[in-house]
Amino acid sequence: MGKNKKNKSAQGSAEIYYPSPEVVERAHIKDYDSLYKRSIEDREGFWAEQAENLEWFKKWDKVLDDSNPPFFKWFVGGKINIVHNAIDRHLKTWRRNKLAIIWEGEPGDVKTYSYHALNREVSKFANVLKSMGVKKGEIVTIYMPQIPELVIAMLACAKIGAAHSVVYGGFSVEALAERIQDAKSRVLITADGGWRRGKITDLKKIANEAIERSPTIEVCITVKRTGHDVYMENDRDFWWHDLMALPVASPKCETEVMDAEDMLFILYTSGTTGKPKGVLHTHGGYAVYTSTTHKFVFDIKDEDRWWCAADPGWITGHSYIVYGPLINGSTIMMYEGAPNHPYPNRWWQMIEKYGITILYTSPTAIRGLMRFGEAWPNRHDLSTLRLLGSVGEPINPEAWRWYYRVIGHEKCPIMDTWWQTETGGFMITPLPITPLKPGSATKPFFGNEIAVVDENGKEVPPGEEGFLVIKKPWPGMARTIYGDPDRYKEVYWKDFEKQGWYKTGDSARIDEDGYVWIIGRIDDVIKVSGYRLGTAEVESALVSHPAVAEAAAIALPHDVKGNAIHTYVILRAGYEGSPDLEEELKKHVVHELGPIARPESITFVDSLPKTRSGKIMRRVLRAQALGQDVGDLSTLEQ
Ligand code: WT7
Repeated sequence: MGKNKKNKSAQGSAEIYYPSPEVVERAHIKDYDSLYKRSIEDREGFWAEQAENLEWFKKWDKVLDDSNPPFFKWFVGGKINIVHNAIDRHLKTWRRNKLAIIWEGEPGDVKTYSYHALNREVSKFANVLKSMGVKKGEIVTIYMPQIPELVIAMLACAKIGAAHSVVYGGFSVEALAERIQDAKSRVLITADGGWRRGKITDLKKIANEAIERSPTIEVCITVKRTGHDVYMENDRDFWWHDLMALPVASPKCETEVMDAEDMLFILYTSGTTGKPKGVLHTHGGYAVYTSTTHKFVFDIKDEDRWWCAADPGWITGHSYIVYGPLINGSTIMMYEGAPNHPYPNRWWQMIEKYGITILYTSPTAIRGLMRFGEAWPNRHDLSTLRLLGSVGEPINPEAWRWYYRVIGHEKCPIMDTWWQTETGGFMITPLPITPLKPGSATKPFFGNEIAVVDENGKEVPPGEEGFLVIKKPWPGMARTIYGDPDRYKEVYWKDFEKQGWYKTGDSARIDEDGYVWIIGRIDDVIKVSGYRLGTAEVESALVSHPAVAEAAAIALPHDVKGNAIHTYVILRAGYEGSPDLEEELKKHVVHELGPIARPESITFVDSLPKTRSGKIMRRVLRAQALGQDVGDLSTLEQ
């Protein structure tokens, strides 16, 4: 195997892969330990230095305000706009004519935007939004396929000081309606549809149904992508291209001066209870954090062609398709559709065609493509690649090795980045110079102090499992849950309130070398194909069907998806379980939440294991399904 590989370590737990001299030679950071030490000893100094790389309308008065934990503020008194840094400042340099976006649609159509062109589109659409009365502080909901207009819409909102709430295009009616309602959006931006595996995803139809459930919506702007017939309502619905052709859509638009702590966006993510949380990020700290992590971890240079193959609808896309890379002046690649359409070589073909230098994707995508065999990637010239990345869930060593050998030709280190919607950017991650152990996200990024502890906050010995916590604030951290600061405190800060630590919700272990191994979620969050879903969301979607009295959802291992959702349903009187009903219920969940929430199985049962206080004991269901010992049942209701 790899020429840079050393054999099994003393514990036999992991092999180590060393970076080649060429990788080390070109890396921004050549010595992790000393910079890490400095960043911990003088955290604020370190972050102030990184913040100097951005353009501020006015410098901050104070780097960190920690007077009211857990509501930390960064770069207090600073004036900035993230779009000024992602676009405007590049226009003053040669980068004006550099490609900002290369986009390929699933049917094979291509669009490119230089920074100059991107600025024109963003400014025009920003003026359209203004003409619709969109104001600073208001939240615009965006529900779109992966097309350039999605990025343009996000940037246009931020440019005029409005916040965006992007709802992933794979979500369906109830998920969208719930998010629109929580954000009280007046304006929704969508598309007639998108292309996925040669078929049209009917976004406008879903949007129309969601609008019916969302009385706050006054205006819906729709991009014509697929051109199929959609219902448009007078005075409410407008075509994007019609508005962009109006005189109001001038290509000149001032970028709004924002406070560093002003809201940039909210992004909903699943938690333990039914209602998704609107995680809130701000202009200043988030800009500093995403650009710094992107630059150091992926060793970004001007000649790179960066491809983060996530959807902009998730935090990965927000931080590492849109904001971090554009702030760093990178050329970003975007692709609309499925990785295996029309054939499983689609991604490899695009890497060759566009000369991609860095690919950042998820274990589930790698496992999915691995299934088709090596012949597909081997048919393409992947020699432009110099770094690879992984995110979303632990990567199993087998997929890691395949990615390293078949895609990276044993010369591209894999950056396994651990982070969350709430952290805004990479928290635990290698750098290109870090010796790698497949399956480990390695070490904390600069400025971050982490620990694995027991429920009393005591650090567990090396190799033992415990709760992963973050001990000190960082600029990219979420500021609150939109409209619910108490829930923010409760979910993330209550368990280790005394110590003032952030609880990640993951369990992990740290080995003798200080390498972090993420085990998985300890709460009722399921990671399906790297996407985060709450068991409660799936359960309430099931219960919203007239046949269902009660439901429980659990995660069981799955070869490609990492985890799959398995459900248990108690039917209402008068209904009987059947394969037809099972299919109908699966469809119902897809209609309410979206295809990623489709249960793998539905088992009809007469009762569910519950605690005396009535909580469903999902671990009992899980143990039973896996044929394991069900453990301590003392709290089970008899
Ligand atoms: C959860 C956060 C961060 C962008 C995508 C997911 C899991 C994420 C890794 C990794 C092991 C990982 C954790 C985390 N996770 N990256 N490299 N190794 N686990 O964001 O949807 O907010 O999910 O994803 O369980 O808590 P998210």
